[in-house]
Amino acid sequence: KLTLDLADTGVKIQPTMYGIFFEDINFGADGGLYAELVKNRSFEFEAPLMGWEQPNSDKHKLNDKSGFATIITNNKEGNKNFCRVEVKDAGGYTLINEGFRGIGVKANDTYNLSIMAANQEGNISKIKFQFIDANGAVVGETSVSPSSKEWKKYTAQLKATKTEAKAKLKITFEGKGTINIDMVSIFPQDTWKNRPSGLRKDLVQKLYDLNPGFLRFPGGCIVEGRVLEQRYQWKKTVGAVEDRETLINRWNTEFAHKPTPDYFQSFGLGFFEYFQLAEDIGAEPLPILSCGIACQFNTGELVPLAELDPYVQDALDLIEFANGSASTKWGKLRTDMGHPQPFNLKFIGVGNEQWGPDYIARYKVFEKAIHAKYPTIKIVSGSGPFPDGDYFDYGWKQLKELNAQIVDEHYYNSPTWFKDNATRYDKYDRKGPKVFAGEYAAQSKDIASAENKNTWDCALAEAAFMTGLERNAEVVHMTSYAPLFAHADGWQWTPDLIWFNNLQSYATPNYYVQKLYGNNAGTDLVAITEGGKAITGQNGLFATAVTDKNTKEVIIKVVNTTDKAQQTDISVKGKKLAASGTLITLKNDNLKSENNFQTETVAPKESTFKLSGGKINVDVPAYSFVVIKVKM
Ligand code: AHR
Repeated sequence: KLTLDLADTGVKIQPTMYGIFFEDINFGADGGLYAELVKNRSFEFEAPLMGWEQPNSDKHKLNDKSGFATIITNNKEGNKNFCRVEVKDAGGYTLINEGFRGIGVKANDTYNLSIMAANQEGNISKIKFQFIDANGAVVGETSVSPSSKEWKKYTAQLKATKTEAKAKLKITFEGKGTINIDMVSIFPQDTWKNRPSGLRKDLVQKLYDLNPGFLRFPGGCIVEGRVLEQRYQWKKTVGAVEDRETLINRWNTEFAHKPTPDYFQSFGLGFFEYFQLAEDIGAEPLPILSCGIACQFNTGELVPLAELDPYVQDALDLIEFANGSASTKWGKLRTDMGHPQPFNLKFIGVGNEQWGPDYIARYKVFEKAIHAKYPTIKIVSGSGPFPDGDYFDYGWKQLKELNAQIVDEHYYNSPTWFKDNATRYDKYDRKGPKVFAGEYAAQSKDIASAENKNTWDCALAEAAFMTGLERNAEVVHMTSYAPLFAHADGWQWTPDLIWFNNLQSYATPNYYVQKLYGNNAGTDLVAITEGGKAITGQNGLFATAVTDKNTKEVIIKVVNTTDKAQQTDISVKGKKLAASGTLITLKNDNLKSENNFQTETVAPKESTFKLSGGKINVDVPAYSFVVIKVKM
């Protein structure tokens, strides 16, 4: 017997409560959200011809009858290399790009091609571009005539004649002579909002559907880098795409279920695009910057405090880039890039998963400088990972003394841990810093192992845990599952919220839990109790309730972690409710159930129900998460 007291309220649900954590891990950006289909398009990987095959070259270069490709390095900042192709045979010379674990093309879809070329002696008459399938059959074709001896951009379109998940791009140079090429690029025409060189539509749609309160970017460990030199530097990710300097991805090999030596960041999805994405999906942007410490799981390299200035300046300049007028240096760049209106940045993160005295010393410098210039910007500070025991061990104690505003906590743990921790935030000081539960996910097996799956067991445990986040909305202001994306053939970490391949994507049970919370966040917390106590696992039930001032609804979330169906039996106090309501049910009898590319066996279903005698009495099936909505 539960009681819903609509008069017992007072705590606001922050609009940022349920958000998105984005990191370029598992091919999340390059090879994923960023819809570029050509890997290593500007020949900037460590091995500059990685991803490119030369089928008619003599491997040992002893007898280059038909021609060869070499890499020329210039002193240009950003785009350092280009490829020189010498064609010796009238039959032409061929390069093949393998894409990101193949190139996904769809029958009848149009693809936009572009290439920079300098036809040195003017002897190359044609460059032919073909999509080829696994058997080498041509499934789409176009060509350009490189008319200029100087660098010039050429564009064309290809239409795919067949759907193929692992096509390749074959480029044939016709004529005899030397040609320089760079920025070989192909994007689907059909991108999110039809932006040229934009983002993959199905993936952004899934983010939009979460109704996220914020978008945190660009990570994760890639913020920090294994060494400081390889940290994420936002200034190198804005401006002309061809000038953005490629960087090795921190997930290049380490923690990979199999090595991923071809993982680099092109930064085609850079900070401008992240801000734009946040705006598109109605989320507050939350950039996280390096605090001058490399990943503490790697080298933990420290920048001396006396040399921290450029790092702090990056933070100040980023705020100017996001919010400054066109008369400021960085506001002008944003304007020139096509967004004269400010992005209205309100939050900034200092460091990712960092802790200890070195972090605190650096955090203090950032805090002072940011708040001196931008007093209203809220700073998210890091803390140690996986705080299992006393959370004060991981930086909280000092951050609390420093009046930090929001502290980012991360935890990857078992489903049992998540259920047991539905009361985790009951003990957090209401007057202390607010909580950003910035990375969490229940693990069915060892983190990042192939056996670690997005099971219903994990998702249900997260749903139960999240009742505790919501019930503690007074102290918990932001939350996000992590990681977000994974390419089925290119992942380094499991489990992940959304899986995709080169053609499709699917939502995991965990995604639907996030979606139900994100779309039913409400505006005000109200009390739901049993015998005067919060519902935190009694009889395997977990519950939380909110009202929504805008839709004039009460929204109750109930999680049943047992193998028996239960009734809610909720008496309502404080306000009269409508005679009927909506019930959304996410359930599965088998805790091991997963979704996949073929079927989503765990997906929400909506129905209606009638209140009886003013009571809300609905079925909460075995192993289910239900959302009950009634108009007030
Ligand atoms: O989400 C994967 C990784 O887990 C993140 O990059 C890091 O912050 C955490 O350790």
